[in-house]
Amino acid sequence: MTGRLNKKSIIVTGAGSGLGRASAIKLAEEDAQVFCVDVNPETVKETSDIITSRGGVASHHQADMCSETEIIAMVTEAEKTYNGIDGLLANAGIAGTGAAHETSLEDWDRLIKVSLTGKWLCAKHVIPHFIAQKSGNIVFQSSICALNGFPKLVAYTAAKGAIAAITRQMASDYGEYNIRINAIAPGTIETELVRETYKQRLEAAKSDITVDESLSQTASRYPLRRLGQEMDVSNMSAFLFSEDSNWMTGAVIPVDGGYTAR
Ligand SMILES: NC(=O)c1ccc[n+]([C@@H]2O[C@H](COP(=O)([O-])OP(=O)(O)OC[C@H]3O[C@@H](n4cnc5c(N)ncnc54)[C@H](O)[C@@H]3O)[C@@H](O)[C@H]2O)c1
Repeated sequence: MTGRLNKKSIIVTGAGSGLGRASAIKLAEEDAQVFCVDVNPETVKETSDIITSRGGVASHHQADMCSETEIIAMVTEAEKTYNGIDGLLANAGIAGTGAAHETSLEDWDRLIKVSLTGKWLCAKHVIPHFIAQKSGNIVFQSSICALNGFPKLVAYTAAKGAIAAITRQMASDYGEYNIRINAIAPGTIETELVRETYKQRLEAAKSDITVDESLSQTASRYPLRRLGQEMDVSNMSAFLFSEDSNWMTGAVIPVDGGYTAR
C-alpha cells in the first residue's frame, strides 16, 4: 500500500461500526497502522480483519469509553503494539434524543460520559506521549449539532458543542508541542446511530412515517440533496491525519453537504 500516512500509528475509537469503521479502513488504505477500539469485541475484530484481509496493518482492542482504567489500558496497549502512537481519532459516541425538559438526568449523564468525557479522557492519556515525542495529532468526531440548533437533541448537542469548544481550547494549549487538534462536524450520515436517533424521535412523536421516509425528507433539506456517506467523513479524517493539513489546528470542519451554510 502507498498512502499519505506512512506507517503512522493511529487509535480509532468506536471502530466497530459506522464512521469509526469506515475511517479505520480508510486510514489503513492510506498506509496507517490502525489500533481499532470498541466496546463491542466482535465488531471491532471484524473491522481489524477487514483491514488485514486487504493487506493493511491493524489490531483490535476492547475498551469502554466510560472507564478511565480501560482507556489507560488502551493507550498502553496501543503504544506497545506499534512502539508509539502518532494519532487518535476520538470517535465513539451514542445516540440520545429529547428536548431539555424531556431528558432524564440519567440519559444526560450517560450520553455526556460516552460522547464527551470518554473523548476527553482518550486525549488526556495520549497527550503525555505526544508531548514527550513533540508531535501528535488528534481528530475529534463532533457534529453539525455543534454549529446549528436541531430539534430534540439536548444532551447530544451539549456533548458535540463541548467537543468543538475543547478542540479550540486544546489546540491553544498544545500547538507549542507540535500537537494538532481538529474536529470533524458531520451532517447526517446513515449509520446505526442515525437510524436509532430517527427511530427514537419518530416513536416519541407517535409518527407513523418510517425511518427511511424521515431520512429522505432530511436529505431533501440538504443543499446537495443527499445524505452523506461514510466515505465523506473518512476522507476528511485521512486528510487531517496527513501532512496535507499540517498548518491546521483548532478547526471544526463541517462535512455536511452545505447544511450549515444555509
Ligand atoms: N452518523 C452521523 O450522521 C453522525 C453525524 C455527526 C456525528 N456523528 C458522530 O460520529 C461518531 C460515530 O457515530 P456513528 O454514526 O458511526 O455511530 P455507530 O453507532 O455506527 O458507531 C458508534 C460506535 O461506537 C461504539 N461505542 C458506543 N459506546 C461505546 C463505549 N462506551 N465505548 C467504546 N465504544 C463505544 C459502538 O459500539 C459503535 O461501534 C459519534 O461520535 C457520532 O456522534 C455521527
